[in-house]
Amino acid sequence: MNPGKQSAFMHWAKSRPPVKYDLALSGILNLPITDLEFDARQLELHGPNAYGYRPLVEALATHRRVAPENVVTVSGGTSMANHLAMAALIEHGDDVLIEQPTYDPLLSVAQYLSANVNRFPRRFEDGFKIDLGALEKQISNRTRLIVLTNLHNPSSVLVDEESLRRIGDLAHNIGARVLVDEVYLEALFEHAPPPAISLGPEFVVTSSLTKGYGLSGLRCGWILADAKLAEKIRRLDDIFGASAAILLEQLSVRAIAQLPKISARAKLILDTNRRRLADFLRTRTDVEAVPNNIGTTFFPRLPNIDVDKFCEFLIAKYETSVVPGRFFESPQHVRIGLCCEPDKFAEGISRLSSALDELER
Ligand SMILES: Cc1ncc(COP(=O)(O)O)c(C=O)c1O
Repeated sequence: MNPGKQSAFMHWAKSRPPVKYDLALSGILNLPITDLEFDARQLELHGPNAYGYRPLVEALATHRRVAPENVVTVSGGTSMANHLAMAALIEHGDDVLIEQPTYDPLLSVAQYLSANVNRFPRRFEDGFKIDLGALEKQISNRTRLIVLTNLHNPSSVLVDEESLRRIGDLAHNIGARVLVDEVYLEALFEHAPPPAISLGPEFVVTSSLTKGYGLSGLRCGWILADAKLAEKIRRLDDIFGASAAILLEQLSVRAIAQLPKISARAKLILDTNRRRLADFLRTRTDVEAVPNNIGTTFFPRLPNIDVDKFCEFLIAKYETSVVPGRFFESPQHVRIGLCCEPDKFAEGISRLSSALDELER
């Protein structure tokens, strides 16, 4: 179980040695700065950005089709957005329901805020759908927050609107909120459904430009919340920072204006790698998977093997990395990211195949 005030997964992700075929990444290959069009002479180091650099607030509001008053800009990506949203919503000892498996820092933040964390399942056997009955059973009159990812990290499964509405109703009935981390919805590009906040004020959404576009370095995150909560979060953020990095905010505004071009690059990477992954799955009877053709990650099960040892062997002999499922409380799984250069992905997948063959001999 997570020990709190730290995240085992983030520590692994930040301290692992570089590897030639990196199939562990969940965000599209970093965009080179030369692919971003801007005139450096038009950028300013300083400027008015108290409570949000206005052009960025407006660009994000247009991007996700909400009103500017519902947007809180966050210069620490979805990570800080999750922290701020949870800190605004949770009091010491509140019950918080978090999907299982999930992205490890979501658990860590809730524990760090001294919440009483309970879980609801998203089982492989159910195609990682949310078990609404199981979720409902976990709800108490102390439940203040329900937390989920959409697309789901690690499986990339989309939560359908009907399920979201029902979760919203459950929360509404007890005066709780639903935090939906939508960072991977950005990887659906023009097909992304509207943000969950469009379903009602009980929803709070977090996201960033990190995953879908290869723009992690901009740290451009946001929270979408009803106007009153958005204001509360902005005031909470006063404790964490006097102002944001306006240089990055200006670059973010330019990046958002260029999203069609940036998305085309991301789609090409994802589509090519997804075809390669499909070939791999067709040839393997020892890899069990929930069919899915969206998102940046895939979360198959490798039954009957020691997955941790296999992942170490895959790095040591085949210079290929995937994420061991133990970081997602699913020790028989691995998370495969479709985010690296297609020729590297193809080679990494064929090495993964060779490693599995070798293991079975
Ligand atoms: C569900 C989820 N939320 C947030 C993040 C962090 O995103 P960011 O880079 O925007 O801080 C990640 C990164 O893996 C993630 O998987």
